[in-house]
Amino acid sequence: MGSLPWNADSQPLMLAPMQGLTNEALRACFIENYQPDIVFTEFVRVQGQSRKRIARADLAEIRSHSASIPLVVQLIGHEAVALAAAAEEVQAAGCRHLNLNLGCPYGRMTTGATGGELLNHPEKLPALLMALRRVVQGSFSVKCRAGYNMSRQLFDLLPVYADCGVDYLILHPRTVAQKYAGQADHDITREALQKTSLPIIANGDIDTAEKGLSLLSEGVAGLMIGRGALADPLVFQRLRQARVSCPDEVRQRRELAEFVLDLIPRYLAKFCGERQALMKLKDVLNFIPHLQFQKDLGKLKRSTTIARFQDLLVKNFLLFQQDRHC
Ligand SMILES: Cc1cc2nc3c(=O)[nH]c(=O)nc-3n(C[C@H](O)[C@H](O)[C@H](O)COP(=O)(O)O)c2cc1C
Repeated sequence: MGSLPWNADSQPLMLAPMQGLTNEALRACFIENYQPDIVFTEFVRVQGQSRKRIARADLAEIRSHSASIPLVVQLIGHEAVALAAAAEEVQAAGCRHLNLNLGCPYGRMTTGATGGELLNHPEKLPALLMALRRVVQGSFSVKCRAGYNMSRQLFDLLPVYADCGVDYLILHPRTVAQKYAGQADHDITREALQKTSLPIIANGDIDTAEKGLSLLSEGVAGLMIGRGALADPLVFQRLRQARVSCPDEVRQRRELAEFVLDLIPRYLAKFCGERQALMKLKDVLNFIPHLQFQKDLGKLKRSTTIARFQDLLVKNFLLFQQDRHC
């Protein structure tokens, strides 16, 4: 067993891996301003054929993590030898906590089933899990859906995860076939708590502090939040302070503006040129669900320069006055 990336007496709040979004710049923004306890890389593809199992850019991102909070590197792949070699490369690059993606509904590689597709081939899991367990010196976790097309598949797999030496499980209780439709079914999470002694991190549709606190009180080891953290980056602090009431619209707009304004220089430094940085900023806006913001978000999404984007953000969000729009 490797050591967990959190203290046994705490319930960690984790920022979820989101491909195309949770790059090092966005993670740094969260770490510095919103304090999740643990962050994850976007999934890192493991090459079956190449001598170098992980792309150079992915290794550079892993090496660049200097924050004091743990970074967990998430691998996606389908060959035991390649995954184990990739885990060695990650550890040599300075990161000791690894996670295997068993959830992504779009993770299939041309060479084989990966991510959530692996739940359609559960007979392949023990070899992959054990190969990783043998080499990972820190914590080894899996992030899984409840099943491929039946959420009760989880209950057959819980003993497999435990027997293969997984340290903790991040559970997104939708099926792979469901993709993102419907709601995450946290009754499955509650049942899993009764059926395994593995620590379970709850994930899926935790978009308010209230929902998160309720799951924590029911015995999950911690929470992982993805889209809810983009919509409300302060959710980690609201959870820590058990603040369940929602801020009013003026404050919500100001908080959102402060988040995105902070991202602008980070994205300009990370991405190649203004156009790409702007496109990536707009990707973040796609995850802000508040209906009353959509008209103003639409204007931001149509802007063609960072200067215009920033002006609109300041005018319509940071300096928004309720009565002006009444
Ligand atoms: C755009 C996007 C990209 C994602 N990329 C990943 C990924 O790289 N690895 C992963 O395990 N899950 C990925 N997910 C799934 C999230 O980590 C999370 O499990 C899911 O969104 C449910 O949690 P939420 O409701 O808090 O967002 C992604 C989700 C979204 C929306």
